[in-house]
Amino acid sequence: MTRRKDMTLTSSGFYVSQEAPIATDNPVATPTAPAPDILRCAYVELVVTDLKRSREFYVDVLGLTVTEEDENTVYLRSLEEFIHHNLVLRKGAVAAAAAFSYRVRAPEDLDRAVAFFSELGCRVERRADGFTKGVGDSVRVTDPLGFPYEFFHDVEHVERLAWRYDLYTPGSLVRLDHFNQVTPDVPRATKFMQDLGFRVTEDIQDEEGTVYASWLRRKPTVHDTAMTGGDGPRMHHVAFSTHEKHNILAICDKLGALRRSDCIERGPGRHGVSNAFYLYLRDPDGHRVEIYTQDYYTGDPDNPVVTWDVHDNQRRDWWGNPVVPSWYTDASLVLDLDGNPQPVVARTEASELAVTIGADGFSYTRPDEGEESMPEWKQGEYKLGHQL
Ligand SMILES: [Fe+2]
Repeated sequence: MTRRKDMTLTSSGFYVSQEAPIATDNPVATPTAPAPDILRCAYVELVVTDLKRSREFYVDVLGLTVTEEDENTVYLRSLEEFIHHNLVLRKGAVAAAAAFSYRVRAPEDLDRAVAFFSELGCRVERRADGFTKGVGDSVRVTDPLGFPYEFFHDVEHVERLAWRYDLYTPGSLVRLDHFNQVTPDVPRATKFMQDLGFRVTEDIQDEEGTVYASWLRRKPTVHDTAMTGGDGPRMHHVAFSTHEKHNILAICDKLGALRRSDCIERGPGRHGVSNAFYLYLRDPDGHRVEIYTQDYYTGDPDNPVVTWDVHDNQRRDWWGNPVVPSWYTDASLVLDLDGNPQPVVARTEASELAVTIGADGFSYTRPDEGEESMPEWKQGEYKLGHQL
């Protein structure tokens, strides 16, 4: 396939470049106000319809630690976390994501967040005593793409349990790693996140330059969030890390033993994008949770940007295992600042599902040989309706 001159084909089958090869003809205006200095993704607030069932999933099955709870809310953290929580479960009528929350470097960055989003005409709310327990002065906004974000610096410190090996289980979750968001226009979203200070580490596109997804980071890993092309704004998933690959296999074994294997949606496997080992689960409300480990360091200023061909069937699973259609189509609603679900806007550009596993889609293993080089049984796996 044809590629821009500044992209180099690697021996691994993807392309690398220095500048993110993504441009938009539909940009959000770049504010003159500087962006807040974002440290990392810190927590997500999920609305769940049955708090008892959700608590059982996240605490008893996945092993997150309860920092605090009351009759409507549970505050959870991973074993290496020292701030109050990485996940808030809040009881509500409609399952949704209420806030993607980022920690900023200094209290002044909250003033910067207010100025940055106010200049864009976004709705902005600030509460000196925070929107959740454990978190101080905070800013919540609805961004120009319709996503609910929170920014905070002041937070209650709690014990980091990393040395408490008596608490570890074979599948312990040790960190919050990233969010993943669904949006119709990935180049527009990518440019907006770049204005907010994020850097692109990887992306998926085709020979016409249609961009299907991008990965964006503040902390020096592959991402703090990713933009996935689809009907949105919606939340695709939230991801927690384990230390090692075998911890993910242990989670699969535990789910089987509990006769809960039906909450495994996809995997375990090795991603092409990010090079991480992965597993996708669905919680009792259908919120998708990824278990993720062992991506790579990206903190140098000249970190190469990795671009994958959408037709490379090793991009989303390095072993070529099929992506189940629900993984492309299902996602969680997101809320506005009043708690109402945001309307979902359809993607008009080509969908990754359609171009790879749909009736007209194709994928290849070896780019110089094309789809027909794959064994017939393998080609069939990528076509909807070809399964027995
Ligand atoms: Fe992910």
